Amino acid sequence: MGDPAVVKIFDTTLRDGEQSPGATMTTEEKLQVAQQLMRLKVDIIEAGFPAASPGDLMAVKEIARLTRGVAVAGLARAHADDIDTAWEGVREAELPVIHVFLATSDIHLQHKLKLSREEALQRVQAMVSRARNLCPSVEFSAEDATRSDWDYLCRVFEVAIKAGATTINVPDTVGYTLPHDYEALFRYLRERVPGMEEITMSAHCHDDLGMATANTLAAIKGGARQVEVTINGIGERAGNTALEEVVMALRTRPDVFGHVDTRVEAAELLASSQLVSRLTSIPVQPNKAVVGANAFAHEAGIHQDGMLKNRLTYEIMTPQSVGWTDTKLVLGKHSGRHALDARLRQLGHKLSAEQLKVAYRRFVALADEKKVVIDSDLLYIVESSMDTP
Ligand code: KIV
Ligand code: ZN
Repeated sequence: MGDPAVVKIFDTTLRDGEQSPGATMTTEEKLQVAQQLMRLKVDIIEAGFPAASPGDLMAVKEIARLTRGVAVAGLARAHADDIDTAWEGVREAELPVIHVFLATSDIHLQHKLKLSREEALQRVQAMVSRARNLCPSVEFSAEDATRSDWDYLCRVFEVAIKAGATTINVPDTVGYTLPHDYEALFRYLRERVPGMEEITMSAHCHDDLGMATANTLAAIKGGARQVEVTINGIGERAGNTALEEVVMALRTRPDVFGHVDTRVEAAELLASSQLVSRLTSIPVQPNKAVVGANAFAHEAGIHQDGMLKNRLTYEIMTPQSVGWTDTKLVLGKHSGRHALDARLRQLGHKLSAEQLKVAYRRFVALADEKKVVIDSDLLYIVESSMDTP
């Protein structure tokens, strides 16, 4: 199972993330992301779905050949051809992983796969064995696990573990579960599936109800020691769990999570976010946790005043810890006199109390007209307030 104090990061930006509409990347771009993921110190890079296209196979092969110190996974449906192609993709990796999936919910079995539950069990047995004969690390995912019958899921996972799976993934494929249910599902599986204690349990969440991070954290409480995440939370539909959110939640609240942690180099989070945003042309919303432009910006006067007295008043992590250079005190109409004074001092102007009073009045009048007051506006205000003694 590995070190129980470590949560492994399985980054699927290049596979599930690339399934975001418009996020397609060239092999060269994928290699850039893979290099950055190495700097970030993720444990596993899911490099693609080799059977999906010759381009995907080529990108997976290149990433497997050129990365070191990180495992490289290739996705495969539970089909012999897919598994063989996934192996062709990852075989040159230092630590190759074949990731086999088959849906287990009745909705998917009946309407998509046209398989009975028994036929699906046989398929899992045959395909996980096939993958394991090729590769020492095999992950099995029960697609749509959270809408599957829990006792049937236990049987599926028991078969997968007996056939050689080394990681068992419990995907919330359609972002349907809620934290308490997902945590309970992990506990249920851990208690009932023979062999589950010896292997790694993995969480894979989608954000259709905005719960992906909360569900992933709940899974960790339930025993998951691998989480499947993407940079900026990009992915199918509403996206996947955002890597940066899980990493910083564990680091900020060790008290809640029993001091388990990832190996991630958090100071690389911002660079990773900006690279993926640039290469996929998917902008990061300004209010995005950890990596959004406003994640460490304060505009309200009361907040700015608090921050100037002690950063702990309004910051639960330092901007530097995730790659930002500093906090931003944004000067707008909600800002107070202390923030204006602090900014003016940074710009080299120390105003008398009377001058500051005048400057602040002019600043507020301007801020009412403009959304944000920039440094050149401030310099103009300073000049026009200097006649005041
Ligand atoms: O969401 C999902 O179920 C998946 C699987 C292929 C793991 O992405
Ligand atoms: Zn997914």
